[in-house]
Amino acid sequence: MTGRPSEAGYEAAPNIALVKYWGVRDEDLGLPYNSSLSVTLNHLRTRTWVKFDPKLTEDKFVLGRTEPTGGPLRAVVEFLDEVRALARFETHALVRSENNFQTASGLASSASGFAALAGAASLAAGLRLSPTALSRLARLGSGSACRSLFGGFVEWRAGTRADGRDCYARPLFPPRHWPGLVDLVAIVKDAPEKTVRSSVAMQLTVATSPEYARRLKEVPVRIRAIKRALAARDAAALFDRTMEECDSFRLVCETTTPKLDYLVPASRRVLTEVRAANDERGTPIAGYTHDAGAHVHVFTTTTEMVRLRRRLASLPGVEKVLVVSPGPGGHDLRRWVH
Ligand code: ADP
Ligand code: DP6
Repeated sequence: MTGRPSEAGYEAAPNIALVKYWGVRDEDLGLPYNSSLSVTLNHLRTRTWVKFDPKLTEDKFVLGRTEPTGGPLRAVVEFLDEVRALARFETHALVRSENNFQTASGLASSASGFAALAGAASLAAGLRLSPTALSRLARLGSGSACRSLFGGFVEWRAGTRADGRDCYARPLFPPRHWPGLVDLVAIVKDAPEKTVRSSVAMQLTVATSPEYARRLKEVPVRIRAIKRALAARDAAALFDRTMEECDSFRLVCETTTPKLDYLVPASRRVLTEVRAANDERGTPIAGYTHDAGAHVHVFTTTTEMVRLRRRLASLPGVEKVLVVSPGPGGHDLRRWVH
């Protein structure tokens, strides 16, 4: 159902994948080879406002203080085309967006960015989409964006249908499910800005990594294990499986031709430090993971947080360590801010 095209604002947060989306079986529809599982984060966020305006002769995109051109602009315009097709009108839009964290550095700005754009554009277009339909729409902008519409712990089911109707995210556990769980985000100095989008890089892995087929077989087992660990709030099992998954993701990246290496020396120091802390205690007290970028997320419990944070923050090349937790899903901002 559509109403009069107008304007709307929407907020969404990035998510960090505990089990990664990496590989697309249908590039037009953005259908992944494997299901994935993530945590939506608090404190970090994107706010996006969309205004469909009959006076505009083309779409305009303002991100923070910049007006992106090239790929980033094209991605927004193509996404708006999807929304216009659903709403059956052709009006151009002004899109204004702000990320309160670094764009394109592995903190999932594309996830929060396209989740916020999906919410704002669909509302502004007068579409009243169900959460499932909104998740399917967001997926067309950035795969991982389909998970950022929901809060807490989220699963994106790959589905099996060729038309993608069964490919969307759904919440598994709410943000408050595990109050003692925290994510220490080690922000490293000199994290390079990504020049190739993840959706492009992952197809190089599919085409060239000799490890990819094995990874695809292992992922469903890991998803089941992580769901069990979350349900039981079993920290050691969660940390163990999260690191195993991250190592598998890094291995397929490193065995891609040309090699994909998203880490800087400081990122590797964080991984080593977490392994050392776990070895010293004889049990996993923390689990690292990273997406396609240099910053590293370290999950731990509130009991261990202070000591571990200090330890990570003292590593050379680590700029700061943010403390975040599972946060809420996307929501309407209800007002147009000029
Ligand atoms: P990240 O790790 O931050 O997701 P990617 O390279 O995967 O890095 O995605 C970054 C791209 O996502 C940007 O180049 C831009 O095209 C898009 N993006 C980031 N923030 C926004 C936003 N707020 N609105 C629309 N698109 C965004
Ligand atoms: C490693 O969903 O960011 O973060 O469509 O290019 O935006 P684009 O891809 P994107 O890829 C995410 C890759 C990942 C793993 C994950 O978040 O599941």
